[in-house]
Amino acid sequence: MTTKFAETEQRQDTVKHVGRPVDRVDGRAKTTGEARYAAEHRYPGMAHAALVHATVARGRIEAIDTEAARAVPGVIEVLTHENAPPMKPAPKTSLMNPSSLASGTSVPYLGTDEVHWNGQPVAVVVAETPETARHAASLVRVAYRELPAVVDFAAEEPNAQPQKGNVLQPAGGDKGDAVAALAAAPVSVDLRFTTPPEHHNAMEPHATIAVWDGDHLTVHESTQNIAWLRAHLALRFGIPERAIRVLSPYVGGGFGGKGFVWAGTLLAVLAARATARPVRLALTREGVYRTVGGRTPTVQRVALGAGANGDLTALIHTSVATTGRIGGMPEGVISSSQHLYDAATIHLRQRIVQLDLLANTAMRAPGDSVGSFALESAMDELACELGIDPIELRRRNEPARNPMDGKRFTHRMLREAYELGAERFGWRERDPRPGSMRDGRWLVGMGVATAYHSSLTMPASVTVRLAADGTVVVRCALQEIGVGAATVQAQIAADELGVPLEAVRVEIGDSELPAGPGAGGSAQTASAAAGVLDACRKLKESALALARRAPDSPLRGRRLAELEARDGGLHHGGRGETYTAILARAGRDHLEAGGGTGMLKFLARTLNERRRWVKGASGAHFCEVRVDRDTGEVRVSRWLGVFDVGRVINAKTAAAQLRGGIVMGIGMALSEATQVDPRTGRVMNPSLSEYLVPVHADIPRIDVQWLDVPDPTTPLGLLGIGEVGITGVAAAVANAVRHATGRRVVDLPITLDKLLEVHGSPGRPG
Ligand code: MOS
Repeated sequence: MTTKFAETEQRQDTVKHVGRPVDRVDGRAKTTGEARYAAEHRYPGMAHAALVHATVARGRIEAIDTEAARAVPGVIEVLTHENAPPMKPAPKTSLMNPSSLASGTSVPYLGTDEVHWNGQPVAVVVAETPETARHAASLVRVAYRELPAVVDFAAEEPNAQPQKGNVLQPAGGDKGDAVAALAAAPVSVDLRFTTPPEHHNAMEPHATIAVWDGDHLTVHESTQNIAWLRAHLALRFGIPERAIRVLSPYVGGGFGGKGFVWAGTLLAVLAARATARPVRLALTREGVYRTVGGRTPTVQRVALGAGANGDLTALIHTSVATTGRIGGMPEGVISSSQHLYDAATIHLRQRIVQLDLLANTAMRAPGDSVGSFALESAMDELACELGIDPIELRRRNEPARNPMDGKRFTHRMLREAYELGAERFGWRERDPRPGSMRDGRWLVGMGVATAYHSSLTMPASVTVRLAADGTVVVRCALQEIGVGAATVQAQIAADELGVPLEAVRVEIGDSELPAGPGAGGSAQTASAAAGVLDACRKLKESALALARRAPDSPLRGRRLAELEARDGGLHHGGRGETYTAILARAGRDHLEAGGGTGMLKFLARTLNERRRWVKGASGAHFCEVRVDRDTGEVRVSRWLGVFDVGRVINAKTAAAQLRGGIVMGIGMALSEATQVDPRTGRVMNPSLSEYLVPVHADIPRIDVQWLDVPDPTTPLGLLGIGEVGITGVAAAVANAVRHATGRRVVDLPITLDKLLEVHGSPGRPG
């Protein structure tokens, strides 16, 4: 990169722990079972709750009979809209109000006789054991007066309304007249894609333990956002935030499903208040499907026009997605189409239908995961149409600046990613003719697709404390959703202070700690890192201030900029002093410093950055499939992802994150779909036996590589890795299947029925 940025930080010289494949600091606790997750805590007198779910999509409760449930020995209470204590309504959504952003839905659970989706909790049974609670819940009888409900996405999709965008997430954009350019293009493709609803299926289902002590509330929760949860609970239960403690040190996967506050959490807290008992509500897998939103289904159109040489003259990408009538945020389906190709004209538009279903929610790379399936499939089809290699087509249309508005990229290495990937994957051996590569009864196909995900940071506060014995404690209410959150911050603090990794302890997962960012938007690590670096720098300043005054210190008269932090202290050339020595001389038992930014400063900086440049993590996926020539069975046989994610902090956890994204993308490509009954709006496959996620036998060895060039504008140069891995994956599979079979499958998932002869020609619109 030749571009200069004021924020550039070069710290390559002192790197010791950053970049290494460091083992997780909590690995032993997790593998020995010593780590306790939300549902695993025990309190004296703790009761267990189970939910009763509505069986109509929309209506009013006419009668609710809890007698049989109450008669079960061990049942403590059955709460319904007739007897539940009141809860304050959900606040109106506002960017400036974190407690409002946290709402999963706007429904006042048990505060109304209205039913807004099929599955909404209409009663909570509290009992001495989970089994009793569940059994009694099955005995609650509810009579409904049904009201008309709109639940069929496929039927409603033509009535979609234009979506309003905002500065952070535009819902469309135009450059030139793409419609005219498409009509005039010598070569074009015009495809319609559909993707189904999907659900997260974290290994640990959502769980809450709520304990009231007078007006003080303690909540053990499996959450991706401790700060939002606490603010939201304060508002709904009418108590100050300081009267609430949220504990969430371990979370068994989130993927966006635990980023917001859903019914189970609120109802556990409500039930604990109503029964004056600690209450534990661990959702069943079905309970997660009924009460926690998933990914929106989409219908998309991508039309591309090009000259015979492959230069794009028109790029059109439009989408229809859903939100619930009772909440959910529109997903940025066309987002990455703003940044990927240097087309002469571009037309992007998102539309929305509101349905009487549970609200959608963020799910790993919301918008981008499904949007990239459409765009990257269409690019591949255009390559076929042109007779140009798909990597070459992308290379030709690689933009020097952001295609929509000419803003600079802070960082862009897609060409390098494809080059390295093609070499490593053996792309040259690919015979471009469909169906030409065989391995016995298998048709072999190779496909590529681009990954892209915008980079984001959030506000975070951090404190760092250095004790006289040289040990360091970093404190931030981070969420460990399985990514190595504490581990990477320990590496960063150790390097910044120049102390051994073993000397650093990172405290996370507790709302009593300085407020962390949420674990979402691929932003947690960079956001917290900014605070850690800031606090460490201030801490070193404090240490130096003590030493500089001492006549016998080798650091006397020095400025921090001249010094190197290493070997447990500060050094200038061969002379220096350990922190321990500095503190001992000064008679101090510790030093402490805080770092980070507040919400206002963060928003101002983010908007300023968005005006100036475009920043994202990206990558090139290489997929090889084998398709059974008779049954249409698709097996992914090889995978390579080459990523440009800026600086990698931990080679081990980063690889795991990127690989996990690819696995989830393979599920999206080949098997995952939430089946919603178009008549009743009920999820029909709320279990892992019917909603098919990939298992080990479905996944080949996944080769993950990264370019490891720091971004010049982010703390430590990292761009975020949680979501970019899944983007483009479904397209890479679809493109490999196209190569193997000649079939362009445009409807996810790519199940074998879509490849059988009986379906006639592949799904190309006429
Ligand atoms: Mo996420 S979908 O930002 O957990």
